[in-house]
Amino acid sequence: MTTLPRTLGADTARLEGREKVTGTARYAADHGHPDGLFAWAVPATIARGEITGVETGAALADPAVLTVLTHENAPRLEEGVDPTLAVLQSPRVAHRGQIVALTVATSLEAARAAAGAVRLDYTSEPHDVLLGLDHPGRYAPEEANGGHPADRERGDFDTAYDEAAVQHDAVYETPPLHNHPMEPHAATAWWEGERLCLYDSSQGSSTVQQMLAQLFGLGPEQVQVTSEHVGGGFGSKGTPRPQAVLAAMAARVTGRPVTLALARQQLAAVTGHRAPTLQRLRLGADRDGRIQALAHEIVTQSSTVQEFVEQAAAPSRTMYVSPHSRTTHRVTRLDVPTPSWMRAPGECPGMYALESAMDELALACGLDPIELRLRNEPDREPDSGRPYSSRHLVECLREGARRFGWQHRDPAVRGHRDGRLLLGTGVAASTYPVMVSPCRAEAHARADGLIDVRVNATDIGTGARTVLAQIAADALRMPLDRVRIHVGSSKLPEAPVAGGSSGTSSWGSAVHKACEGLRHQLAEHNEVPATGLTATADTTEEAKRGQEYARHAYGAQFCEVQVDTATGETRVRRLLGVFATGRILNPRTARSQFLGGMTMGLGMALTEHSTMDREFGDYAERDLAMYHVPVCADVPDIDVHWLDEEDPHLNPMGSKGIGEIGIVGTAAAVTNAVHHATGVRIRALPVTPDALL
Ligand code: MOS
Repeated sequence: MTTLPRTLGADTARLEGREKVTGTARYAADHGHPDGLFAWAVPATIARGEITGVETGAALADPAVLTVLTHENAPRLEEGVDPTLAVLQSPRVAHRGQIVALTVATSLEAARAAAGAVRLDYTSEPHDVLLGLDHPGRYAPEEANGGHPADRERGDFDTAYDEAAVQHDAVYETPPLHNHPMEPHAATAWWEGERLCLYDSSQGSSTVQQMLAQLFGLGPEQVQVTSEHVGGGFGSKGTPRPQAVLAAMAARVTGRPVTLALARQQLAAVTGHRAPTLQRLRLGADRDGRIQALAHEIVTQSSTVQEFVEQAAAPSRTMYVSPHSRTTHRVTRLDVPTPSWMRAPGECPGMYALESAMDELALACGLDPIELRLRNEPDREPDSGRPYSSRHLVECLREGARRFGWQHRDPAVRGHRDGRLLLGTGVAASTYPVMVSPCRAEAHARADGLIDVRVNATDIGTGARTVLAQIAADALRMPLDRVRIHVGSSKLPEAPVAGGSSGTSSWGSAVHKACEGLRHQLAEHNEVPATGLTATADTTEEAKRGQEYARHAYGAQFCEVQVDTATGETRVRRLLGVFATGRILNPRTARSQFLGGMTMGLGMALTEHSTMDREFGDYAERDLAMYHVPVCADVPDIDVHWLDEEDPHLNPMGSKGIGEIGIVGTAAAVTNAVHHATGVRIRALPVTPDALL
């Protein structure tokens, strides 16, 4: 008997890599039709008020312009689906940049020129766009993003904190941040009778299919959505966005295919952002650093259109021993664009605050920051009392310390110079929950010996397509080259979004189940019948399992910075991440996920920031020249490692999600290092030179 090399866990290159690097992979806006039209969105130029007049004559004077859609003439949409998608339905303007008109023309240039010629009159109302700790409009929501209760109270925080020998009380701030995937949001739509067909840049075309069907009063079978290649999303494509709705409307009105690619300058207003947070963190500990009382209180913003509450206190409910705990979320609805998911919503800003506070508490207790974390390691999840399915934070910290050379660290602050540079090192922990959603898949054995595996997963650049093929081959006990994997179309079995670091777990469970079913069928046949053999899977039941365990991924990040005493510039010299995330299914694509997350965390720490202009009522940063994501010169040689973690309580692959944990904790590792270098504690991101000089 021969054993095949297992494909799961192998360093397989992306199946679509060649298509991507040769430019033959086609994205949503690349599917223009010879008879197709182009649309251009017109943003509102006031921050709050109402449209009182629409003048489209000048725009329509160009014969290349077929129509201009506004609230006066756009197709009516069903109400109550998602208010951010109710485009061109009302004269109300809820925030600057809201799309208020759409031009449609035979060329992109004509559509864009027409957009400039559309004249809208408004009555403007006073707007309120700045978040404050004591904003009068703030309220307690029912829940925060992800279904987390807004408030949790355990024990008696006030008494325990008052009695604590060591107290730390500080407010940490994170700014608004924008996702800015490489591929802006784009869609190509056309109608075949009462059937809507769409190419959309999305993290989940099953969701787009369902929501567009609702909006246009269709059955889901009347809507077909393809998202074959997607150039990143980071959460901003996790829910349908206006480009899909607008392209569908324009195609309906003109009877022709329409492509709409939002300009990067328009994304900030209509594709979500990470809401700013003001986070008060109080830690009360005994002299040995054992936490008695923990309070993490979040103040954040949403729009007047829709409530979205960044669940930044959620990680404080699960991270450390905290017998007396208070975690709360308060939100203010402002005249701003609607915030949404951005890589590790909740955990990312929340762990910046918690891990900064832990560093400050360690100093207050005279403890090494790793030792402080070891002393507060819970044996059960504090918030629920559930046992952990696996938790290897301690091992990540120890392995990271060993690789980083932490034992040689002199804890003295501002004690290390290299010419005019101050040097420092810092550490922070990472965590991200394990999530899984029901999914369907199908595996079909063809008479020619190949296996078609179908699942409406979305590969947003993560390597999902490749890893799913590996999972299939593994379950089939076949080599990878016999598997044909089909993803990215709503015609395929229904699947959840590429979000919440749950894609591979959710889709993979269904693929595994379908392929195991097919393997058993194949074992009963001497040869595959001409019509083939098919096995289907639905993981609705499996997705409910494992809830008796607290399931989270963990990691530890170590950073070395240099701060220039003449310019105030901070540069990251070394960044190391060690993660414990179950079984790694493909080391090449996994490394890329961790690396990408850590790079994005470095951006959060040092370069990224959206500035709300109070008078204008809009974000000042409009493009990648102003919104600074780290470039190659900003990023050192990032060192990524992981532990071989065995966890039988996850899924058939034994994997935890890895798409988001890399960004969690990075910013605190950087600012903790900045403190070690300079003695300056950065409690408002990003780190800028003026704060250090
Ligand atoms: Mo991720 S922010 O859950 O797409």
